[in-house]
Amino acid sequence: MFSKERHREILVYLNKHERVTVNQLAILFYVSKETIRNDLNILAKQGFVQRCHGGAIILRRVFHTQLVNDFGTSIVKVLNQVNMQRKITRKRKIKIMKNKVCILGSFNVDIIAKVDRFPKSGESILASNTIIGPGGKGANQAMAASKCQVQVHFVGKVGKDHFSQMARDHLSSSDISSFTLYQDEEYKTGSAIIYVSQPAGENMIAIHSGANQHITESEVSSIASEMADAKIFLTQLENNFEATHKALMMASQLGAKTILNPAPYSARTIECLPWVDYLTPNETEASMMSGIEVNDIDSAKKAAQAIRAIGAKDIIITMGSQGALIYEGSKFTHIPALKALSVDTTGAGDAFNGAFAAAIAQEQSLISAAKFASAFASLAVEREGASSMPEYQNVLSRLAQYERK
Ligand code: ATP
Ligand code: RIB
Repeated sequence: MFSKERHREILVYLNKHERVTVNQLAILFYVSKETIRNDLNILAKQGFVQRCHGGAIILRRVFHTQLVNDFGTSIVKVLNQVNMQRKITRKRKIKIMKNKVCILGSFNVDIIAKVDRFPKSGESILASNTIIGPGGKGANQAMAASKCQVQVHFVGKVGKDHFSQMARDHLSSSDISSFTLYQDEEYKTGSAIIYVSQPAGENMIAIHSGANQHITESEVSSIASEMADAKIFLTQLENNFEATHKALMMASQLGAKTILNPAPYSARTIECLPWVDYLTPNETEASMMSGIEVNDIDSAKKAAQAIRAIGAKDIIITMGSQGALIYEGSKFTHIPALKALSVDTTGAGDAFNGAFAAAIAQEQSLISAAKFASAFASLAVEREGASSMPEYQNVLSRLAQYERK
């Protein structure tokens, strides 16, 4: 077999299995390990795979996935197309390369029921509609950041079920620049059952985390190169705590600024604080972390001071339609929420966090990043579905409302 044919076969194999060892490939193709190492180094140089200890992982940049699927029979075509794409996108890439955001987080399939009101215990009610769509705080935040003129790499884990294909299709067809999607042999793709009540779009959520809770330490280690060239590393608490903690520590040590959205609440959040530059709890999480019930700006200030006392650096408490409170150094700033025709607030926090991460990556000040994030989130609550994010130009127009305030 010629080396180019072998490269194609390796990509086809990786497209299916995500990762492979040198040993496995040597056995598969009846060639020496040295030959396989050379092959993988060539594919790594061409940007198709990332070398990891003892093997390689496929790099699923959007066009790579499409091309491997569309031109799976001809590696020459694949390489030519990718080179053409590279030429077309080079300008944009160079412009945004410096502003990379790396996001580790969950992917869930959201099963949403729209109801007039939440059911009482033991009660059955009729839903006016049900929708099945992509969600998960990590993937939603990656969607949000990808709308904000930065390069985004998303890392997550799904199962080996039909929902995992939804994850792949969703990420591939988005503006997310690249992603690493691990697949668990045993655990299912995460899912969330969500009630959205009319008319204000408030929600109630039950999450089954599934594969999200089973990212391994070595899978986290494998994304070191993505973290190393990211300006911002953003994560939440829907993955297993050990992986999240390790990732924050690694990203911080590799020089990225880190953001932790401590959702859903975990008492172990405190262990992450040495590695976190910006902590973004909502009212509930801030209340649980501080022991002070947050329901207005004054109580949010007290909670922020208590959270600082246990080791947090800059704190941004999001408060739904009451906006967000920033505690930076010794200064408090309240960012009011912008007027919105709210239809579904699910994922408002994700919209805020993704946009905030992008704005910080673009070196905006904390206050202007929070204003941008708040304008972004105010548009997100006007859309149905947690992963449905607004377009950048519309955010800029909405942002102008702050100037008029
Ligand atoms: P979720 O858990 O549903 O994703 P969250 O509780 O984490 O949301 P919120 O604090 O509700 O997040 O909202 C985040 C930000 O979104 C707020 O700080 C605010 O800027 C914006 N926002 C939320 N709700 C509204 C609203 N009704 N109108 C305008 N802006 C809103
Ligand atoms: O923040 C909203 C998200 O929380 C939903 O998409 C759901 O999947 C849960 O993770």
